[in-house]
Amino acid sequence: MTQRQETKLWGGRFAEATDGLVELFNASVPFDQRLAEQDIRGSLAHVAMLGQVGILSGEEVGQIEEGLEAILEDVRAGDFEWRLDREDVHMNVEAALRDRIGPVAGKLHTARSRNDQVAVDFRLFTKEAALDLAAKTRALRAVMVGEAEKHLSSGAGEPVILPGYTHLQVAQPILLSHWFMAYAAMLERDEGRFRDAAERMDESPLGSSALAGTPWPIDRHATAQALGFARPTANSLDGVGSRDFALEFLSACAILSAHLSRLSEELILYSTFEFGFLTLPDSHTTGSSIMPQKKNPDVSELARGKAGRVFGNLMGLLTVVKGTPLAYNKDLQEDKEGVFDSYDTLSIVLRLYGDMLPKSTWHAAVTKAAAARGFSTATDLADHLARSGVPFREAHEVVGGLVGLASRTGRQLWDLTDEEVRAAHPQLSAEITRAMTVEESVKARQSYGGTAPEQVRAQAEAARTALS
Ligand code: ARG
Repeated sequence: MTQRQETKLWGGRFAEATDGLVELFNASVPFDQRLAEQDIRGSLAHVAMLGQVGILSGEEVGQIEEGLEAILEDVRAGDFEWRLDREDVHMNVEAALRDRIGPVAGKLHTARSRNDQVAVDFRLFTKEAALDLAAKTRALRAVMVGEAEKHLSSGAGEPVILPGYTHLQVAQPILLSHWFMAYAAMLERDEGRFRDAAERMDESPLGSSALAGTPWPIDRHATAQALGFARPTANSLDGVGSRDFALEFLSACAILSAHLSRLSEELILYSTFEFGFLTLPDSHTTGSSIMPQKKNPDVSELARGKAGRVFGNLMGLLTVVKGTPLAYNKDLQEDKEGVFDSYDTLSIVLRLYGDMLPKSTWHAAVTKAAAARGFSTATDLADHLARSGVPFREAHEVVGGLVGLASRTGRQLWDLTDEEVRAAHPQLSAEITRAMTVEESVKARQSYGGTAPEQVRAQAEAARTALS
């Protein structure tokens, strides 16, 4: 970043130069140079419109356009000289235009303010980021559905069975595919949130000018259309003063992060030696500099940890916005870094999970054995009794008694003797308790959205169709 001194573009009323530390504190160019493309696109749309309505001559428009195009090329090539004394992306571009084409550059800012300029640049960026994360979320969802399909038949053609938990206590057996489809369902809504947000922010604030609109005969519909927005914003104060589009984007990011963090937590837990449910690929795990045996789930831990900063970005901007009077305040300059950071963070996490999940190996025998432990079929036994007319509450009590007995004597339900089972309820027998396998348990859960293989297959098929 170059540090020089020249008269500010806004320097007319100032007698003394800006204090060096103020300049440093005030500048946003270190981070908002990322908006250069959007800024130049915005300027091109604005100047074309100024020509169309007759505010600038065709010749002036041509000179400005040519200059802006050349600057865009420099930016893309990395040849643009970003200057801190020029404060932000907008004044860097405008001053560079003046350096290049002379005083006519000063006509570009007719009927425009940096307030509507930054608002339009940042909306363009955020809308593109929302649509990009929607697509990346969809890609990960497709990977989840692929994993669900894959694990509907393990080596022996049988679906992989996983313990389902509540309170992290074994609850009931489920299909691993069912678990994948649960995350696919969350990701589907995450994608929807990005698309909804993109649609709501699809309005151009350009032409709101400083805050009150402008006396110049501008055509806001034309610039909105040229920039690919559905329409211009309807109120100039709102156009320059609102950042809920960024808040909505950050909130969709935060919710997606929460989902990816839960997934991370499960993968971290299930890949431990103690659980042993899956092995993460070497390509996506790391070692320890002291303990030779270690294989650490760093990707998942970082994905879980980064949820903290993604949530923080949302809280940060909410806090920035909450006390600011209408319309623009410099506080709003703090809106950008969090959006960039959440966008970058999620772009990489989504990609990493898309690569890592298909390379992970699930151990079907281990997960099935784990699913059978912890009396996971006790509900099936209670349901069985209830089907023969015993009120469910009573059946629950009876089976609870059997679980207590087995648990006190270090056994599973299927280890209980026929006498013990019959003593608990005359309509029960050891034959029945032994028939309560995890396979039968999952097969029985045929309710819509349940874990029976047919139901999970239907979920996966519906998702496939929706994705194609
Ligand atoms: N760099 C500023 C920002 O990001 C641009 C708008 C400045 N407007 C102003 N009135 N100072 O918010």
